[in-house]
Amino acid sequence: MATNITWHPSLSRAERTQLAGQQGFTIWFTGLSASGKSTVATALEQHLLHMGVAAYRLDGDNVRFGLNKDLGFSEKDRNENIRRIAEVAKLFADSATVALTSFISPYRADREVARALHAGDKEGGIPFVEVYVEVPIEVAEQRDPKGLYKKARAGEIKEFTGISAPYEAPEAPEITIRTDLLSVEECVQKIVDYLAEKGLVS
Ligand code: PPS
Repeated sequence: MATNITWHPSLSRAERTQLAGQQGFTIWFTGLSASGKSTVATALEQHLLHMGVAAYRLDGDNVRFGLNKDLGFSEKDRNENIRRIAEVAKLFADSATVALTSFISPYRADREVARALHAGDKEGGIPFVEVYVEVPIEVAEQRDPKGLYKKARAGEIKEFTGISAPYEAPEAPEITIRTDLLSVEECVQKIVDYLAEKGLVS
């Protein structure tokens, strides 16, 4: 724990928002492996960029190559993974960017920590939009693009979400998308419609 540290004030978020001409916030995708989180988040990122909205996506696999390369998949490591991502997403959102996160984030309590971190910001709450990417596990397992479910069933991967580790579905997400029932474009449109309705993008 660091001591003797001082918080340095910077531009206020209101000033930053005005100068950037857009509001920062976080869109938090959660769902099983192979649910379609990264696919929809990538398509949404592109859609927002084409609208002229600065957006940046943080992805589970990618972040684990760098920032979180010291973390595995135990409950404790996943807690820390999500805690760090929440902090990073909040920094992006504070910089007047739309942060999109696509992590399994299987524990409800961790997602609540991320939400509370945004809500409790000292300059006032930063909007946090939880998107539940819902598919029956049978569908995710059938897709199995990386062959991970097969390995998990064979006991070659321990603590695999949905097989040998829990996934706690959101109880009150802002948005739920069924990627087995809607196309990627329809999922993106559903999210963009929500953001427009809430005045987060125009
Ligand atoms: S978590 O639970 O939020 O900390 O996981 P995340 O950082 O999103 O990383 C998930 C990706 O890691 C791969 N992988 C595993 N997933 C779940 N359980 C285990 N044991 C595991 N081992 C490796 C997998 O590619 C996940 O990517 P997605 O895109 O979700 O399939």
